[in-house]
Formats: sequence, structure tokens, C-alpha cells
Amino acid sequence: MGANSFMITFPQFFGRGCSKEAGEKLAAMGCKKVLVMHGKGVEAAGLPALIVQAIERAGLEVAENNKVESDPSDRIIKKIAAFGKDAEVDSIVAIGGGSCMDAAKCVKLLLDNGEPLETFYDISHPQRTAIPLITIPTTSGSGSEASKGAVVTDTVNGIKRVIIGAGTTPAMALIDPELTLGAPPKVTAACAFDVLAHAIDAITSKMTCRITQVVSYEAIRLMERSYKQAVEHGDDINAREDMQLASNLGGYGIGNAKCSMSHAFAHALGALYHVPHGVCCAIFTPASLEYVSDTCPEQIRAIAELLHAAYDAEDSTREIARKTGEQIRRMYRAVGIDDITAYIPDEEEAIKRLTPVAEKDIMALFSPRPIDDESCEWVIRRTYELARS
Ligand SMILES: NC(=O)c1ccc[n+]([C@@H]2O[C@H](COP(=O)([O-])OP(=O)(O)OC[C@H]3O[C@@H](n4cnc5c(N)ncnc54)[C@H](O)[C@@H]3O)[C@@H](O)[C@H]2O)c1
Ligand SMILES: [Fe+2]
Repeated sequence: MGANSFMITFPQFFGRGCSKEAGEKLAAMGCKKVLVMHGKGVEAAGLPALIVQAIERAGLEVAENNKVESDPSDRIIKKIAAFGKDAEVDSIVAIGGGSCMDAAKCVKLLLDNGEPLETFYDISHPQRTAIPLITIPTTSGSGSEASKGAVVTDTVNGIKRVIIGAGTTPAMALIDPELTLGAPPKVTAACAFDVLAHAIDAITSKMTCRITQVVSYEAIRLMERSYKQAVEHGDDINAREDMQLASNLGGYGIGNAKCSMSHAFAHALGALYHVPHGVCCAIFTPASLEYVSDTCPEQIRAIAELLHAAYDAEDSTREIARKTGEQIRRMYRAVGIDDITAYIPDEEEAIKRLTPVAEKDIMALFSPRPIDDESCEWVIRRTYELARS
């Protein structure tokens, strides 16, 4: 197998207050009318107003749409794209979490290509790119600001899809930690474990490389250092800055190596039971890590050390992974994230329903061990065993 590569596809600006530069950046690209997309939660937190004012000060017209929902569906994306088309916008700014940034990537795709969204479920279908999209994250989780991919809820088939290509690629990201200061503790907690899952999935993915691993280790270090403080003291800008950086680095990790095992299960749980994405990630990271551990012993030790999992020098890789998984569970329980039993009390139901969806998830392609009936049963049973421990 040849070496896997690492690249950052578009500029990333990081700093307190940098979201207010969106207008100048768009004006420099010759844009005149921008679709500003966000959801009601971010609106209630007062975040879009200041950015819209700054865009207008830079001389652009704004068409604002506040209809973004969590885990954006095909239906809402089509509606916002129709709104953008009617308004004749020549650019997009997305202010929100992964849901908003992913929805905006798909809206851009539809405006650029004029073909049905479903066409692009086939990721080999050619995509044109035309109008610039600026991503502005308000959570520290998805890292979507940094990557080309978008996760969409396909309401026809009841599954999550990933769309990726030139049409979903942002022009730039403005990462402003101040925007996350008001994110609610529950959102902050869930998002932190999305970051951790991205880093671990990217490190263990078939597509990983040394650069991806270095970047992802740093994401884990920052996450471990500050996730609890960010949840418990949301106004601590230093903790928030650590988490924004960790999330952004996580985005490079999966932008290059893709997600792998934990996300195949997380997508299945999220699509079938409507559990927040980061919670799904927290629940499935421990057993997934353990299941793939023999494929990457050196990396498992590094992850264990970064998470301060107590293990003995003579422990096998599998044993270290098991202890690391238990440590991850302690970490998510410490910030109020429930185990799988809170969402699917019946273990047999979980195996029956999650298995076919996880097996078909696109992230299964990048898992270092096959996602099949046997592995699904093992990971799901182990996840219940941990929950009962
Ligand atoms: N594209 C990718 O690479 C990628 C990676 C991981 C996850 N995802 C997707 O991202 C979505 C999850 O994103 P998320 O975890 O960021 O959650 P989210 O975008 O769904 O937001 C969660 C909630 O927090 C609110 N919120 C966000 N920022 C806030 C703030 N600063 N103040 C107050 N409220 C705020 C939102 O209104 C929403 O109700 C899922 O659909 C997931 O599949 C995409
Ligand atoms: Fe994720």
C-alpha cells in the first residue's frame, strides 16, 4: 500500500473576534450579496446579529435564513437552497455547529450545480464549485469548518449520508472561540466527545498517516486538558480556545484519514434514535477503540498516555485499549453523558437495528477491521457491558 497524504484544502483563520472579518473577506472576493445561514439556538444566543452587522458594514447585502435544524435533513437543505436561489446570493456564510456548516455545504452544492441533492449521494458524481462559503463554527465538535464533507439526514431511507467533493468545499473558515462562550453545557459535553472520536478514528483509520496522527494527538491533548472546564465553566475563554483548536485539528484528521469505526456506529445510533451526534460518539468510542487496537499498538499506547489511562507496562495492547475505553467512559460520565442503556434499553434490539445501518455506513470503508455481523455484535455487546460496569 502507498503512503497516505495529508493536506489542508483551504485557509483557516483562528482567533478571538475573527468572525467579524467575514464581510471584508467576502468583499475581497468580489461578493455582493450573501446568504447568512444559522439556526434558532445560535440566534437566541445573539451570535448572527454582530456578524451580519459587520458584513453590512463591509458593503454587502445580506439575505438571512434562520431555519437550520440539528442533523440537517434533505428537506431543510432544499428549502434553504430555494431561498438562496430566489434571493440571488453570490456567497454563503454559515454560523453554527456541524449541523449548520454541513447544511451550508449542501446548499452551496445545490446552488452551484442545480441538480437534485440525491444525485450527490453517489460521491463519484462530478461536482462544480462556484460561490464561496465561509464556515464560522459556534460549537467545538464537528470540525466541519475545516473539512470538505457534509453529513445529511436522508429522510427517505432514514439514514445519515456523507456528501463530499468540490461543491461542498468551503472557501475559508473563521474560527472564533468567543462564539462558543454561550454554548450550553450539554452541547459542549457532547461536542467534546465528537472531537475525541474524530481524533481516534483518524489515528486508527486505514487512511491515516504520520501527519494526521500528530495533529490528532494534539487534538486529544487539548480536549483532555480542557473539556471538563469548558462544560463546567463555559465562560472560560482559555478552555473554550483549547476546545475550538482541538475541534479544528480533529477536522483536519478526518478531512484526511476520514472517520472510521466509532462513527459508523454513531451514525447508525443518531439516525435511528435521534441521539445527539457527540453523545453517539462518546458511547461507541470505547468498544471501537478496543476492537481495532491490535492493528495499531503504538498508537493505542500514545492515546492511553494522553488520556491518562492507568495501565501496566506488561499489559497487552488489547488490555491497554480496554483500560483506555474505560477511562473514556469515566470521562463522558463525568460530564453527564448517559450510556447506551438510556437510549436503547434492550441490547438485542440494538444489535438487530444498528448492525445493518452501521455495516452500510460510508465510514465502514475506512475501518481497519471489517464492520460486519461479527464485529457489530462484539462492539455493541461490549458497549452494553461497559454501561453495566
Ligand atoms: N462534516 C463533518 O465532518 C462532521 C463531523 C462531525 C459531525 N458532523 C455533523 O454535525 C452535526 C452535529 O454538530 P454539532 O455537534 O456542532 O451540533 P449542532 O450544530 O446540531 O448544534 C447543537 C445545538 O447547539 C446549539 N448551538 C450551537 N452553537 C451554540 C452557541 N454558541 N450558543 C448556543 N447554542 C448553540 C444549536 O442551535 C443546536 O441546538 C451532526 O449532524 C453531525 O452528523 C459533521
Ligand atoms: Fe463526528
